[in-house]
Amino acid sequence: MVGDRARFGLKTRLMIHKNYSLVMIHEEAYNLLKDKVQNQNLIKHCIAAEACMRALAEFFDEDKEKWGITGLLHDIDYEGTKNDPVKHSIVGAEILEKLGIDKEIVEAVKTHNEIHEIVPQSKMAKAIYCVDPLTGLIVASTLVLPSKKIVDLTVENVLNRFKEKGFAKGANREIIAKCHILLDLPLENFVKICLEAMKKISNELEL
Ligand SMILES: [Fe+2]
Repeated sequence: MVGDRARFGLKTRLMIHKNYSLVMIHEEAYNLLKDKVQNQNLIKHCIAAEACMRALAEFFDEDKEKWGITGLLHDIDYEGTKNDPVKHSIVGAEILEKLGIDKEIVEAVKTHNEIHEIVPQSKMAKAIYCVDPLTGLIVASTLVLPSKKIVDLTVENVLNRFKEKGFAKGANREIIAKCHILLDLPLENFVKICLEAMKKISNELEL
């Protein structure tokens, strides 16, 4: 896993970003995640979200580091709040705010939990909002393949599973589909970008 993470070629310190707020460097963010999250499946979900966010940032010509860290840290509070959905993401945003992390990351983490009904404002916040349930649908779609390998999963497979209402009910289709309105990205393209991103880290995801 260390080798895969080194692949991103990221530094190990905090830096001052253009807007003078602290932006976390990848390894710091990863260490924070490991400190707050013990469940390996949740860590894998966060890594999957990171990969999707980086790929979307690249597609939109946005800040890949910032978008990736938002994906990596979006569920930072989940082990402590999973039984209290109203607190989920509010607590996470507070943790990051106290660390002085970039306000746009804090806001995106806060608004990704649809239960609060806060409309995500930045493009990055809109992206993590839609990415979160899609990663779950992609993982579930992989696990029902005969090979259980993401390399064999196609965009068409995912789109078919998307239409199957009884399948992976936790992956909120309404929110995934908002990629069209929020990101101006048709569902098929959104799935393609995220599926390809997750395939690239199949070892880390153990899929
Ligand atoms: Fe999540």
